[in-house]
Amino acid sequence: MNSHQFLYSQSGADSEGLTLECSLPPLQQMCVFALRVFLGVLLCAPHLCSECPSGCECFAVTRTVKCVSKDLLAVPQSVPGYARTVFITGNDIHQIGPDSFAELENVTNIILSNNRITEMASHSFSALLNLRFLDLSGNQLVLIHPEALSIPGSPLQELSLSRSLYNFSALTDLATALRWGGLRGLLRLDLSGNQLSLLPPGMFSHLPSLQQLFLTNNSLVTVYSGTFSGMNQLQVLDLSHNAFSTFSADALQELETLGNIQVFLGNNPYTCSCEIQDFVSWLNESRAQVDVEAVRCASPRGLNGTLLQGLSVQAVGCVVPDQAEVADLTLQTSYVFLGLVLGFVGMVFLLVLYLNRTDMKNWIIGMRDACHDILEGYHYRYEIDSDPRLGHISAANCNSREKGQQGLTLSQKLLSDTCILQVPTDTHVRQVTASPPVGL
Ligand SMILES: *[C@@H]1O[C@H](CO)[C@@H](O)[C@H](O)[C@H]1NC(C)=O
Ligand SMILES: *[C@@H]1O[C@H](CO)[C@@H](O)[C@H](O)[C@H]1NC(C)=O
Ligand SMILES: *[C@@H]1O[C@H](CO)[C@@H](O)[C@H](O)[C@H]1NC(C)=O
Ligand SMILES: *[C@@H]1O[C@H](CO)[C@@H](O)[C@H](O)[C@H]1NC(C)=O
Repeated sequence: MNSHQFLYSQSGADSEGLTLECSLPPLQQMCVFALRVFLGVLLCAPHLCSECPSGCECFAVTRTVKCVSKDLLAVPQSVPGYARTVFITGNDIHQIGPDSFAELENVTNIILSNNRITEMASHSFSALLNLRFLDLSGNQLVLIHPEALSIPGSPLQELSLSRSLYNFSALTDLATALRWGGLRGLLRLDLSGNQLSLLPPGMFSHLPSLQQLFLTNNSLVTVYSGTFSGMNQLQVLDLSHNAFSTFSADALQELETLGNIQVFLGNNPYTCSCEIQDFVSWLNESRAQVDVEAVRCASPRGLNGTLLQGLSVQAVGCVVPDQAEVADLTLQTSYVFLGLVLGFVGMVFLLVLYLNRTDMKNWIIGMRDACHDILEGYHYRYEIDSDPRLGHISAANCNSREKGQQGLTLSQKLLSDTCILQVPTDTHVRQVTASPPVGL
């Protein structure tokens, strides 16, 4: 069975030689049979014609194994060691486990598309030390282990995950796996057709060699700064067939950091209103090579299908006033506003004054009286201070205290101690002198 299949593949390749040798029609069938036997004996040495897993076809010369649409439930084991390319497609394999691919050191390409794979375990491919091309498109990945893509020596160069991420959890899982996978040699990554609406920032920053990134046919609406950070080797970025209606200044800056690369931005539903101005300018000036022929307005209706590049400022209904004029206008506006506020505050103040006019009047009168009293007090004191006669008496009064102290009552004593100048001085003096010495 196996050698038969093998020969079948050979007979196709050698069919020309076959018809030359066996030109006689009656002998043809016999010739074919003889040739098959001959080639079988010659080429099918034991190490080449090792077991082919059931449900698969193995082609030693092209070093290819194909297990296509055979309703396989798991990755077939005992794939021949000569295999370089393995197709396992259209089956019903739900999980890729750590032992799914064991010791296939010569395999360089694995195509695992359309297998309904939902889960990739840790180190799923780590035995494939020469794996360069891995196609996982058309699956329904829900769980991706952080180390699912780790392979010692980072041999992987191309990874396709087109139409294979089931939901946003799978995307965040993938972002982690790209970070942990050590995919330092990855050159090409295909994430098209995954209904992605946003990309985790720095998702690709651990892919330093990446040259081509395909994000076409998703639902992306914006590019954040940092989305494409760390991709210094990028040459091709495909953002066509997404949901971009415009690109903000931040997004354009992010695209500009990628430099002189090829960027596909076509077939997005661009809205050609005033907000698209920055994008149009960028298209006019950018270093990037953009597919400008496919970058067209989707709305408004009047501009549907119009090329964005070269679209004039007036066409997008955007009359931008002069920069200086704008600044001037802003300044004027702020002055007018300030004036209005001050006017309003003044009005309120006057109104409050008016409403409280009676209270205010009383208050003013009260204030005036108080001031008057205080002023009078000062005036009196001033007069006493400036009268030399009164000053003399007061000094005498204070000196005479010691002599007559014994004869004074407590109140009198307190009074004389304070030496208050306002107390009429003659009476005080009289008191001191008139009082007879009680202690005698
Ligand atoms: C891989 O290829 C080399 C050389 O072609 C061969 O010697 C080796 O046996 C192959 N490995 C396996 C597992 O068959
Ligand atoms: C993604 O799908 C899986 C399986 O249905 C579910 O457990 C998970 O919560 C989903 N994640 C999100 C973000 O919807
Ligand atoms: C876009 O992706 C959807 C699935 O998400 C698929 O059905 C459709 O064929 C794709 N379109 C293109 C143009 O690739
Ligand atoms: C883009 O360039 C065209 C001419 O090449 C010019 O008419 C148009 O005003 C420019 N648009 C912007 C936004 O710079």
